[in-house]
Amino acid sequence: MGISRELLLWGSKNPWLLNHVPKYKFVKKAVKRFMPGEDLDDAITAAKDFQQKGIPTVFTRLGENITDLKDADEVTNHYLDVLDKISKNNVESEISLKLTQIGLDLSFEKSLENFKSITEKAESLNNFTWIDMEGSPYTSTTLDFYKRIKENYQNSGICLQAYLKRTEKDLKDLLTIKPSIRLVKGAYSESNNIAFEKKNDVDKNYYKLAEIMLNEIRDNKLRIAFATHDINLINKITEAAVKLNVPKDKLEFQMLYGIKTSEQLRLVKEGYKLKVLISYGSAWYPWYMRRLAERPANVGFVIRNIFQ
Ligand code: FDA
Repeated sequence: MGISRELLLWGSKNPWLLNHVPKYKFVKKAVKRFMPGEDLDDAITAAKDFQQKGIPTVFTRLGENITDLKDADEVTNHYLDVLDKISKNNVESEISLKLTQIGLDLSFEKSLENFKSITEKAESLNNFTWIDMEGSPYTSTTLDFYKRIKENYQNSGICLQAYLKRTEKDLKDLLTIKPSIRLVKGAYSESNNIAFEKKNDVDKNYYKLAEIMLNEIRDNKLRIAFATHDINLINKITEAAVKLNVPKDKLEFQMLYGIKTSEQLRLVKEGYKLKVLISYGSAWYPWYMRRLAERPANVGFVIRNIFQ
C-alpha cells in the first residue's frame, strides 16, 4: 500500500477532517465528479439519463456508522420512500446500503428488522437490495446477516472483497445458499495479515474468484456482478466467459458514477449487462476520501478546483 493511499484512508476516519473538509466550496465542487448531487431527486434525474443509454442504476444514500437508532429508523424510512419513488418514476434502479447505516453497530436484531422491512418492500415492487461490505471488523457479521436474510428473502445480494484473504472460503461457503454477489477489490485500509497488499495480488485473487463465479453463473443461474473499473480484469473475465460458454447477457458488470464512463457505454454496446452505482446524500466525506484513495491522482483534481 503506497503512503498516499494509506494517508487518505486515515483521513477518511479522522473526526477533525470530517468536521472541516466538507465545508470547503472547492471540495464540494470536486465531489460532483463522483455524484450528481446530494438529493435523491438528483440521483433520479441522473438515472433517467443513464436509462436512455441502456444503463440501469443502483442508488445508495451515503452514510455509515450511525450512533443513534432513531437515525437508523430515518434511513430505513428513507429507503422505503426511495423504493416507492423508483417505482413511481419508472426508473430501473436497485438500492444498496451499508448495514452500519441501519444500526448494525448498535443492535444486530434491530438492523435485521430494518433491513427486512426494506427488502420486503423491494420484493413487493420486484426490486432488489444490495448489502455493501464495510471494513474487516464487519465481514463475519455481514455474512451472518446475509445468511439470515436469505432464509426468507431472495431479492438481495452481498458484496465480497477480493483483497481479503478469507474471501475464497467465504465465497465457497455462501455458494450453498445460492447467493447474489457483487465482487469488488475492496476500499478500506486493512492489515497485510488479512488482506493482499499488492495490486497485482489483489487482481490475481479477483480473477481467481471470478473464475469460480463464472462456473456458478452458468450452472446455477446465480446473479454475480463484477464491480470493477479495471479494464484488464474485465477483458480477462469476458474472455474466460467465452471459453466457459457463459452467455454475454449473463455477465453483469457494475461501475461507479463518474468513473470510466466511456467503458460503461462500450460494455453495454457489446451486449453485456452493466449497472452504474449512483451515490447521493450529504454524508459524503468518508466515501469521497475512499474514492480519492483508490486513485491518489484524484487529489490533483481537488487541488485544481481551488484555483478555478
Ligand atoms: P482499480 O482500483 O485497480 O482501478 C482500475 C482503474 O479504474 C484505475 O486504474 C482507474 O483508471 C480507474 N479508477 C478506479 N477507481 C477510481 C477513482 N476513484 N477515480 C478515478 N478513477 C478510478 N468497496 C468496498 O469495500 N465495499 C463495497 O461495498 C463496495 N461497493 C462497490 C460497488 C460498486 C458498484 C463499485 C464499482 C465499487 C464498490 N466498491 C466497494 C469499491 C471497490 O472496492 C474499489 O475500491 C473500487 O471499485 C476501485 O477498484 P477497481 O476495481 O476499479 O480497480
